Amino acid sequence: MRQRIRWFALHGVVRSLSKFGLRSGDPQARLIADPEVRENPGAFADEQRDRGPVIRCRAVLMTFDHSVAHELLRSDDFRVTELGGNLPKPLRWISKKTDPGLLHPLRPPSLLSVEPPDHTKYRKLVSSVFTPRAVATLRERVEQTATALLDELEGAAVVDIVERYCSQLPVTVIGDILGVPDEDRPRILHFGEMGAPSLDIGLSWQQFQQVNEGIVGFNGWLSEHLEQLRRNPGDDLMSQIIKASDEGPRLNSDELEALAGLVLAAGFETTVNLLGNGIRMLLDAPEHLETLAARPELWPGAVEEILRLESPVQMSARIACKDVDVAGTRVGKDELVVLHLAGANRDPKVFTDPHRFDIDRENAGKHLSFSGGRHFCLGAALARAEGEVGLRTFFERFPDARLAGRAVRRDTRVLRGWSSLPVRLGTARAMNSAT
Ligand code: HEM
Repeated sequence: MRQRIRWFALHGVVRSLSKFGLRSGDPQARLIADPEVRENPGAFADEQRDRGPVIRCRAVLMTFDHSVAHELLRSDDFRVTELGGNLPKPLRWISKKTDPGLLHPLRPPSLLSVEPPDHTKYRKLVSSVFTPRAVATLRERVEQTATALLDELEGAAVVDIVERYCSQLPVTVIGDILGVPDEDRPRILHFGEMGAPSLDIGLSWQQFQQVNEGIVGFNGWLSEHLEQLRRNPGDDLMSQIIKASDEGPRLNSDELEALAGLVLAAGFETTVNLLGNGIRMLLDAPEHLETLAARPELWPGAVEEILRLESPVQMSARIACKDVDVAGTRVGKDELVVLHLAGANRDPKVFTDPHRFDIDRENAGKHLSFSGGRHFCLGAALARAEGEVGLRTFFERFPDARLAGRAVRRDTRVLRGWSSLPVRLGTARAMNSAT
């Protein structure tokens, strides 16, 4: 019963209101409930951006404008939001009273929902071990892992490339980094799959229950894993984070779990979508694959362009800390602004012919897919390496790969990617460069 009330406060009300809002074309309602928006977010973003840099919806404000999103991500007048943070007071009260106290990516002490000084303390701890040098050495591991996964595919005719490759590569790499035993990976993927809609609002009761089940399972597994590493530290980065925390700023067990849980989940829930989106886009554009085969130095730029056009994280949000003027619109204290990162990535004021897939686009790297400012993605360098190595290695091994059936999109709004992508692999090319 308690859970049902919680669902009602956090999602049920918004869900019902969205159905009404759809009739009047409210942009937030369309974002939550309109299947066409999910099918073609680029067209939706254009339509909304034409209405102005900041749009007032019934319950929130929104921007699809690159310069506004860029500015707000860096502004001290805005802070990150938390689960239920902008609900009307009575619903917020219910959500607080029914909070089961589980770790959630949008609940403090998650990095994504705290601000300085806590944010600075947690972030320092991760960056102290997740250094550019450490990430550079991980590149080799990404390459070895991709090669091993592709070896297993040889001889298969048609495979679901998301299941067999795009999801396996990130979880293996981040699992190595965080000292996760090989045999635990399928369980983590399963919890991740169940918990992925946790960033969305307006979930159905069934989705909400499934998310909770995933989060409970993940929480249980994580506390055991951290306990294990504390007793038997390895040379993995997670053991180093635990050590740094014990010796330095001393995080309590909730803080440490939230930090480890976010790095782990963010490490595989997003990159799987970059790989799936990239494979799909490139299979649809054989001319780009030919160019990349002839000029492999274009791969890093191609990955930026994939991130720009099919942002694995479509949106974020910020709350105003005080009354403030944003591009001519008054935003009141405590009002929430949805930052549509994917829409900003197609802003014609920044990107010429923004809907065109151009692997040689000069300024593709100006996308906001990794956010910006204090909360800029901590794993961006690793994600870029996984995207580049993962996609290049796949297409070098299987240059004749073709789509082989109906692809199915993930049932999520904030995260965008494929849950299934059947691919006919064709003949494998002998490899000598990917080791
Ligand atoms: C293509 C892959 C990825 C994308 C698109 C992505 C995107 C993002 C975005 C948009 C944010 C900030 C959200 C906001 O400002 O509200 C973020 C934060 C974060 N990401 Fe990623 N991410 C990716 C991969 C990774 C990986 C591989 C890791 C870990 C190794 C990671 C760890 C984190 C962490 C810890 C934060 C929180 C940073 C903070 O709040 O200070 N991400 N990511």
